[in-house]
Amino acid sequence: MTPIPRKPATLAIHGNEIKKGSSAPVSPPIYHTSTYVFPDSDAVEGYMVRGERKHYIYQRYGNPAQDVLEKRMALLEGGEDSAFFASGMAAITTTVLSVLKKGDELITIPTLYGQTLNFFRGELQKYGISVRFAPIEALYELKTIASEKTKLLYFETPTNPNLQILDIDRITKQAHDLGITTIVDNTFASPINQQPIVHGIDIVVHSATKYLGGHSDVLAGVIVGTREFIEKCRSRSQIYGPTIDPFNVFLLLRSLMTLDVRVQRQNENALKLAEFLNVHSKVDAVHYPGLPDNPFYELAKKQMHGFGGMIAFEVYGGKAEAMKVVDNLEIMLNATSLGGVETLVSIPVITSHVWLSTGELKEAKVTPSMIRVSVGLEDPDDLMADFEQALNKLP
Ligand SMILES: Cc1ncc(COP(=O)(O)O)c(C=O)c1O
Repeated sequence: MTPIPRKPATLAIHGNEIKKGSSAPVSPPIYHTSTYVFPDSDAVEGYMVRGERKHYIYQRYGNPAQDVLEKRMALLEGGEDSAFFASGMAAITTTVLSVLKKGDELITIPTLYGQTLNFFRGELQKYGISVRFAPIEALYELKTIASEKTKLLYFETPTNPNLQILDIDRITKQAHDLGITTIVDNTFASPINQQPIVHGIDIVVHSATKYLGGHSDVLAGVIVGTREFIEKCRSRSQIYGPTIDPFNVFLLLRSLMTLDVRVQRQNENALKLAEFLNVHSKVDAVHYPGLPDNPFYELAKKQMHGFGGMIAFEVYGGKAEAMKVVDNLEIMLNATSLGGVETLVSIPVITSHVWLSTGELKEAKVTPSMIRVSVGLEDPDDLMADFEQALNKLP
Protein backbone atom coordinates (compact mmCIF):
# COMPACT_ATOMS: atom_id res chain seq x y z
CA MET A 1 0.00 0.00 0.00
CA THR A 2 1.44 3.38 -0.98
CA PRO A 3 1.41 5.69 2.06
CA ILE A 4 -0.77 8.79 1.71
CA PRO A 5 1.51 11.88 1.73
CA ARG A 6 1.03 13.60 5.06
CA LYS A 7 0.68 17.32 5.79
CA PRO A 8 2.85 19.14 8.38
CA ALA A 9 0.18 19.16 11.14
CA THR A 10 0.01 15.34 10.89
CA LEU A 11 3.76 14.80 10.55
CA ALA A 12 4.41 16.93 13.66
CA ILE A 13 2.20 14.57 15.71
CA HIS A 14 2.78 11.14 14.17
CA GLY A 15 5.78 11.41 11.88
CA ASN A 16 5.65 8.43 9.56
CA GLU A 17 5.37 5.86 12.32
CA ILE A 18 2.52 3.45 12.69
CA LYS A 19 1.88 2.59 16.32
CA LYS A 20 -1.45 0.78 15.91
CA GLY A 21 -1.54 -2.47 17.85
CA SER A 22 2.14 -2.27 18.78
CA SER A 23 1.47 -1.37 22.47
CA ALA A 24 4.23 1.26 22.18
CA PRO A 25 3.75 4.30 24.43
CA VAL A 26 1.88 7.09 22.63
CA SER A 27 4.35 9.59 24.11
CA PRO A 28 7.99 8.39 24.01
CA PRO A 29 9.44 8.25 27.53
CA ILE A 30 12.30 10.47 28.69
CA TYR A 31 15.57 8.53 28.49
CA HIS A 32 17.26 9.92 31.58
CA THR A 33 20.26 7.63 31.49
CA SER A 34 23.84 8.39 30.61
CA THR A 35 24.66 4.88 29.37
CA TYR A 36 23.06 1.69 28.00
CA VAL A 37 23.61 -2.02 28.71
CA PHE A 38 24.67 -4.22 25.78
CA PRO A 39 23.39 -7.82 25.58
CA ASP A 40 26.92 -9.22 25.07
CA SER A 41 30.44 -8.30 24.01
CA ASP A 42 29.78 -9.23 20.39
CA ALA A 43 27.08 -6.52 20.31
CA VAL A 44 29.59 -4.02 21.80
CA GLU A 45 32.11 -4.97 19.13
CA GLY A 46 29.37 -4.74 16.50
CA TYR A 47 28.58 -1.17 17.56
CA MET A 48 32.11 0.06 18.10
CA VAL A 49 34.05 -1.83 15.42
CA ARG A 50 31.59 -2.91 12.72
CA GLY A 51 29.43 0.26 12.89
CA GLU A 52 26.19 -1.65 13.57
CA ARG A 53 23.76 0.89 15.01
CA LYS A 54 21.22 -1.59 16.44
CA HIS A 55 21.73 -0.39 20.03
CA TYR A 56 22.08 2.81 22.02
CA ILE A 57 25.38 3.28 23.80
CA TYR A 58 25.73 6.60 25.58
CA GLN A 59 23.72 9.83 25.93
CA ARG A 60 26.13 11.92 23.81
CA TYR A 61 25.33 9.54 20.91
CA GLY A 62 21.56 10.01 21.20
CA ASN A 63 18.60 8.07 22.59
CA PRO A 64 15.37 6.51 21.24
CA ALA A 65 13.17 9.57 21.90
CA GLN A 66 15.74 11.82 20.23
CA ASP A 67 15.57 9.55 17.17
CA VAL A 68 11.79 10.04 17.02
CA LEU A 69 12.21 13.82 17.33
CA GLU A 70 14.91 13.93 14.65
CA LYS A 71 12.83 11.86 12.21
CA ARG A 72 9.80 14.15 12.69
CA MET A 73 11.86 17.29 12.22
CA ALA A 74 13.42 15.95 9.01
CA LEU A 75 9.94 15.17 7.66
CA LEU A 76 8.68 18.66 8.56
CA GLU A 77 11.53 20.35 6.70
CA GLY A 78 11.57 17.88 3.79
CA GLY A 79 15.15 16.78 4.55
CA GLU A 80 16.58 13.27 4.79
CA ASP A 81 17.65 13.51 8.42
CA SER A 82 18.11 15.97 11.29
CA ALA A 83 20.24 16.30 14.42
CA PHE A 84 19.32 18.17 17.60
CA PHE A 85 21.78 20.08 19.80
CA ALA A 86 21.94 21.94 23.10
CA SER A 87 21.25 25.34 21.49
CA GLY A 88 20.74 27.07 18.17
CA MET A 89 24.31 28.36 18.32
CA ALA A 90 25.58 24.78 18.83
CA ALA A 91 23.69 23.75 15.69
CA ILE A 92 24.97 26.73 13.69
CA THR A 93 28.63 26.40 14.71
CA THR A 94 28.58 22.61 14.17
CA THR A 95 27.03 23.02 10.71
CA VAL A 96 29.40 25.69 9.47
CA LEU A 97 32.48 23.90 10.80
CA SER A 98 31.28 20.67 9.17
CA VAL A 99 31.18 22.35 5.74
CA LEU A 100 34.26 24.59 5.80
CA LYS A 101 37.97 23.94 6.25
CA LYS A 102 41.11 26.04 6.39
CA GLY A 103 41.48 28.23 3.31
CA ASP A 104 37.75 28.28 2.45
CA GLU A 105 35.58 31.38 2.24
CA LEU A 106 32.05 31.99 3.50
CA ILE A 107 29.75 34.58 1.95
CA THR A 108 27.00 35.96 4.14
CA ILE A 109 24.83 39.04 4.73
CA PRO A 110 25.13 41.66 7.50
CA THR A 111 21.54 41.10 8.69
CA LEU A 112 22.02 38.07 10.92
CA TYR A 113 21.37 37.11 14.51
CA GLY A 114 24.09 38.90 16.54
CA GLN A 115 25.94 35.85 17.88
CA THR A 116 25.98 34.21 14.45
CA LEU A 117 27.59 37.42 13.25
CA ASN A 118 30.10 37.26 16.11
CA PHE A 119 30.95 33.65 15.21
CA PHE A 120 31.56 34.63 11.60
CA ARG A 121 33.52 37.80 12.44
CA GLY A 122 35.45 36.72 15.50
CA GLU A 123 35.83 32.93 15.44
CA LEU A 124 36.08 31.60 11.88
CA GLN A 125 39.36 33.37 11.15
CA LYS A 126 40.94 31.33 13.97
CA TYR A 127 40.23 28.26 11.79
CA GLY A 128 41.80 29.96 8.74
CA ILE A 129 38.38 30.54 7.16
CA SER A 130 37.64 33.93 5.61
CA VAL A 131 34.26 35.64 5.63
CA ARG A 132 32.88 38.07 3.08
CA PHE A 133 29.84 40.17 4.00
CA ALA A 134 27.72 41.21 1.06
CA PRO A 135 24.54 43.27 0.78
CA ILE A 136 21.45 41.14 0.14
CA GLU A 137 21.14 42.38 -3.47
CA ALA A 138 24.67 41.09 -4.22
CA LEU A 139 23.51 37.50 -3.62
CA TYR A 140 21.47 37.77 -6.83
CA GLU A 141 24.76 38.37 -8.69
CA LEU A 142 26.71 35.77 -6.74
CA LYS A 143 29.30 35.10 -9.46
CA THR A 144 30.47 38.73 -9.24
CA ILE A 145 31.44 38.35 -5.57
CA ALA A 146 32.32 34.64 -5.23
CA SER A 147 35.83 33.32 -5.71
CA GLU A 148 37.30 29.84 -6.12
CA LYS A 149 37.66 29.76 -2.34
CA THR A 150 33.95 30.37 -1.73
CA LYS A 151 32.45 27.13 -0.45
CA LEU A 152 29.48 28.29 1.60
CA LEU A 153 26.63 30.79 1.44
CA TYR A 154 24.77 31.44 4.70
CA PHE A 155 21.70 33.62 5.22
CA GLU A 156 18.47 34.11 7.15
CA THR A 157 15.08 34.75 5.58
CA PRO A 158 13.05 36.49 6.94
CA THR A 159 15.98 38.44 8.33
CA ASN A 160 16.37 39.26 12.00
CA PRO A 161 15.10 41.78 13.06
CA ASN A 162 13.68 43.63 10.07
CA LEU A 163 11.91 40.89 8.12
CA GLN A 164 13.55 41.31 4.75
CA ILE A 165 12.83 38.33 2.48
CA LEU A 166 15.47 36.73 0.26
CA ASP A 167 14.47 34.82 -2.87
CA ILE A 168 15.67 31.31 -2.03
CA ASP A 169 15.06 29.80 -5.49
CA ARG A 170 17.09 32.49 -7.27
CA ILE A 171 19.95 32.44 -4.80
CA THR A 172 20.32 28.66 -4.54
CA LYS A 173 20.33 28.28 -8.33
CA GLN A 174 23.28 30.64 -8.60
CA ALA A 175 25.09 29.05 -5.68
CA HIS A 176 24.73 25.55 -7.11
CA ASP A 177 25.95 26.67 -10.54
CA LEU A 178 29.12 27.77 -8.71
CA GLY A 179 29.33 24.62 -6.56
CA ILE A 180 28.64 26.54 -3.35
CA THR A 181 26.78 24.88 -0.45
CA THR A 182 23.82 26.84 0.98
CA ILE A 183 22.56 27.14 4.55
CA VAL A 184 19.45 28.98 5.74
CA ASP A 185 18.56 29.79 9.32
CA ASN A 186 14.80 29.08 9.19
CA THR A 187 14.14 30.08 12.81
CA PHE A 188 11.91 33.08 12.04
CA ALA A 189 9.62 31.22 9.62
CA SER A 190 9.45 27.72 11.15
CA PRO A 191 8.80 24.76 8.80
CA ILE A 192 5.09 25.57 8.91
CA ASN A 193 5.64 28.84 7.05
CA GLN A 194 8.65 27.93 4.92
CA GLN A 195 10.51 24.84 3.73
CA PRO A 196 13.81 26.09 2.29
CA ILE A 197 14.94 22.60 1.18
CA VAL A 198 12.00 22.48 -1.24
CA HIS A 199 13.44 25.70 -2.74
CA GLY A 200 16.90 24.20 -3.22
CA ILE A 201 18.66 24.94 0.09
CA ASP A 202 21.14 22.23 1.13
CA ILE A 203 21.05 22.64 4.90
CA VAL A 204 18.53 24.22 7.29
CA VAL A 205 19.37 25.30 10.83
CA HIS A 206 17.06 26.47 13.61
CA SER A 207 17.21 27.86 17.04
CA ALA A 208 14.69 25.29 18.34
CA THR A 209 14.49 27.56 21.39
CA LYS A 210 12.03 29.64 19.36
CA TYR A 211 8.92 28.39 17.45
CA LEU A 212 9.82 24.69 17.67
CA GLY A 213 10.00 24.88 21.48
CA GLY A 214 7.31 27.54 21.50
CA HIS A 215 6.88 28.07 25.26
CA SER A 216 10.04 29.98 26.24
CA ASP A 217 11.26 27.06 28.35
CA VAL A 218 13.69 25.12 26.12
CA LEU A 219 17.14 25.91 24.76
CA ALA A 220 17.93 23.77 21.70
CA GLY A 221 19.00 23.79 18.06
CA VAL A 222 18.62 21.55 15.03
CA ILE A 223 20.29 20.90 11.68
CA VAL A 224 18.37 19.35 8.76
CA GLY A 225 20.05 18.06 5.60
CA THR A 226 21.14 14.95 3.76
CA ARG A 227 21.72 11.76 5.73
CA GLU A 228 25.42 11.93 4.88
CA PHE A 229 25.82 15.52 6.07
CA ILE A 230 23.86 14.95 9.29
CA GLU A 231 26.08 11.96 10.10
CA LYS A 232 29.10 14.23 9.62
CA CYS A 233 27.59 16.74 12.08
CA ARG A 234 26.79 13.97 14.57
CA SER A 235 30.38 12.71 14.47
CA ARG A 236 31.65 16.23 15.10
CA SER A 237 29.24 16.77 17.98
CA GLN A 238 30.27 13.46 19.55
CA ILE A 239 33.72 15.02 19.84
CA TYR A 240 32.77 18.57 20.87
CA GLY A 241 29.78 17.44 22.98
CA PRO A 242 27.00 20.06 22.53
CA THR A 243 24.43 17.34 23.32
CA ILE A 244 20.72 18.06 23.81
CA ASP A 245 19.34 17.21 27.25
CA PRO A 246 16.84 14.28 27.25
CA PHE A 247 14.22 16.35 29.05
CA ASN A 248 14.43 18.98 26.32
CA VAL A 249 13.90 16.20 23.76
CA PHE A 250 10.65 15.38 25.57
CA LEU A 251 9.60 19.05 25.67
CA LEU A 252 10.33 19.47 21.96
CA LEU A 253 8.35 16.36 21.00
CA ARG A 254 5.47 17.76 23.01
CA SER A 255 5.84 21.21 21.44
CA LEU A 256 6.02 19.94 17.86
CA MET A 257 2.54 18.47 18.25
CA THR A 258 1.06 21.98 18.51
CA LEU A 259 3.49 23.73 16.16
CA ASP A 260 1.01 24.00 13.30
CA VAL A 261 -1.84 25.51 15.37
CA ARG A 262 0.50 27.84 17.25
CA VAL A 263 2.15 29.18 14.12
CA GLN A 264 -1.13 29.57 12.22
CA ARG A 265 -2.58 31.63 15.08
CA GLN A 266 0.63 33.64 15.45
CA ASN A 267 0.46 34.43 11.70
CA GLU A 268 -3.13 35.68 12.12
CA ASN A 269 -2.37 37.73 15.24
CA ALA A 270 0.75 39.28 13.67
CA LEU A 271 -1.15 40.37 10.56
CA LYS A 272 -3.82 42.07 12.70
CA LEU A 273 -1.17 43.81 14.80
CA ALA A 274 0.87 44.88 11.76
CA GLU A 275 -2.24 46.36 10.10
CA PHE A 276 -3.02 48.25 13.32
CA LEU A 277 0.54 49.62 13.69
CA ASN A 278 0.74 50.50 9.99
CA VAL A 279 -1.88 53.24 10.35
CA HIS A 280 -0.92 54.45 13.84
CA SER A 281 0.04 58.13 14.02
CA LYS A 282 3.04 57.46 16.35
CA VAL A 283 4.51 54.78 14.08
CA ASP A 284 6.97 55.76 11.36
CA ALA A 285 7.35 52.38 9.60
CA VAL A 286 6.18 48.78 9.90
CA HIS A 287 8.20 45.86 8.55
CA TYR A 288 5.91 42.88 8.02
CA PRO A 289 5.92 40.89 4.76
CA GLY A 290 2.17 40.25 5.03
CA LEU A 291 1.28 43.91 4.42
CA PRO A 292 0.49 44.45 0.71
CA ASP A 293 2.55 47.70 0.74
CA ASN A 294 5.63 45.83 1.99
CA PRO A 295 8.34 45.51 -0.72
CA PHE A 296 8.68 41.77 -0.02
CA TYR A 297 4.93 40.96 -0.06
CA GLU A 298 4.83 39.21 -3.47
CA LEU A 299 8.03 37.25 -2.83
CA ALA A 300 6.81 36.17 0.62
CA LYS A 301 3.50 35.04 -0.91
CA LYS A 302 5.38 32.94 -3.47
CA GLN A 303 7.92 31.42 -1.10
CA MET A 304 6.13 31.14 2.25
CA HIS A 305 2.95 29.41 3.40
CA GLY A 306 2.32 32.14 6.00
CA PHE A 307 3.84 35.54 6.72
CA GLY A 308 5.03 34.65 10.21
CA GLY A 309 4.63 35.89 13.76
CA MET A 310 7.45 38.43 13.77
CA ILE A 311 7.01 42.19 13.21
CA ALA A 312 9.47 45.06 13.41
CA PHE A 313 8.31 48.66 13.58
CA GLU A 314 9.88 52.06 14.07
CA VAL A 315 8.37 54.80 16.20
CA TYR A 316 8.89 58.49 15.42
CA GLY A 317 11.98 59.62 17.35
CA GLY A 318 14.90 57.41 18.40
CA LYS A 319 16.01 54.88 21.01
CA ALA A 320 14.50 56.88 23.91
CA GLU A 321 11.05 56.80 22.31
CA ALA A 322 11.32 53.08 21.54
CA MET A 323 12.32 52.43 25.18
CA LYS A 324 9.39 54.50 26.43
CA VAL A 325 6.89 52.46 24.40
CA VAL A 326 8.39 49.14 25.51
CA ASP A 327 8.52 50.21 29.17
CA ASN A 328 4.85 51.27 29.12
CA LEU A 329 3.50 47.99 27.77
CA GLU A 330 1.31 46.15 30.27
CA ILE A 331 0.78 42.73 28.65
CA MET A 332 3.69 42.30 26.28
CA LEU A 333 6.97 41.40 27.95
CA ASN A 334 10.28 43.17 27.43
CA ALA A 335 12.38 40.09 26.83
CA THR A 336 14.75 38.87 24.18
CA SER A 337 14.01 35.61 22.27
CA LEU A 338 10.92 34.83 20.20
CA GLY A 339 8.46 32.21 19.01
CA GLY A 340 6.75 31.57 22.37
CA VAL A 341 3.07 31.71 23.31
CA GLU A 342 3.58 35.07 25.03
CA THR A 343 4.18 38.25 23.04
CA LEU A 344 7.73 39.51 23.56
CA VAL A 345 9.13 42.87 22.53
CA SER A 346 12.77 43.89 22.30
CA ILE A 347 14.82 46.77 20.96
CA PRO A 348 17.42 45.22 18.61
CA VAL A 349 20.08 47.96 19.04
CA ILE A 350 20.33 47.11 22.76
CA THR A 351 19.72 43.34 22.51
CA SER A 352 20.16 41.02 19.51
CA HIS A 353 22.18 43.57 17.50
CA VAL A 354 24.07 45.32 20.31
CA TRP A 355 27.43 44.16 18.86
CA LEU A 356 27.01 46.02 15.57
CA SER A 357 28.78 49.33 14.93
CA THR A 358 26.76 52.34 13.74
CA GLY A 359 27.91 51.64 10.17
CA GLU A 360 26.97 47.96 10.40
CA LEU A 361 23.55 48.81 11.82
CA LYS A 362 23.00 51.14 8.88
CA GLU A 363 24.06 48.45 6.44
CA ALA A 364 21.74 45.96 8.16
CA LYS A 365 18.90 48.55 8.10
CA VAL A 366 18.41 48.35 11.87
CA THR A 367 17.49 51.70 13.46
CA PRO A 368 17.57 52.85 17.12
CA SER A 369 13.80 53.45 17.09
CA MET A 370 13.07 49.87 15.93
CA ILE A 371 11.03 47.56 18.16
CA ARG A 372 10.90 43.85 17.35
CA VAL A 373 7.72 42.01 18.28
CA SER A 374 7.35 38.25 18.58
CA VAL A 375 3.59 37.91 18.49
CA GLY A 376 2.15 35.32 20.83
CA LEU A 377 -1.22 33.67 21.31
CA GLU A 378 -2.96 36.30 23.44
CA ASP A 379 -6.18 37.83 22.10
CA PRO A 380 -5.13 40.28 19.36
CA ASP A 381 -7.61 42.91 20.63
CA ASP A 382 -5.77 42.96 23.97
CA LEU A 383 -2.41 43.28 22.20
CA MET A 384 -3.67 46.19 20.08
CA ALA A 385 -5.08 47.92 23.17
CA ASP A 386 -1.71 47.46 24.90
CA PHE A 387 0.17 49.09 22.00
CA GLU A 388 -2.46 51.84 21.78
CA GLN A 389 -2.01 52.91 25.42
CA ALA A 390 1.81 52.66 25.28
CA LEU A 391 2.17 54.54 21.97
CA ASN A 392 -0.21 57.26 23.15
CA LYS A 393 2.17 58.04 26.02
CA LEU A 394 4.65 59.37 23.44
CA PRO A 395 4.49 63.16 23.02
C1 LIG B 1 17.54 33.72 14.11
C2 LIG B 1 18.30 33.10 15.25
N1 LIG B 1 19.19 32.14 14.99
C3 LIG B 1 19.91 31.56 15.97
C4 LIG B 1 19.77 31.94 17.29
C5 LIG B 1 20.59 31.27 18.35
O1 LIG B 1 19.82 30.30 19.00
P1 LIG B 1 20.02 29.85 20.54
O2 LIG B 1 19.73 31.04 21.39
O3 LIG B 1 19.04 28.74 20.70
O4 LIG B 1 21.44 29.41 20.68
C6 LIG B 1 18.85 32.93 17.61
C7 LIG B 1 18.69 33.35 19.02
O5 LIG B 1 18.06 34.32 19.34
C8 LIG B 1 18.10 33.54 16.56
O6 LIG B 1 17.23 34.52 16.81
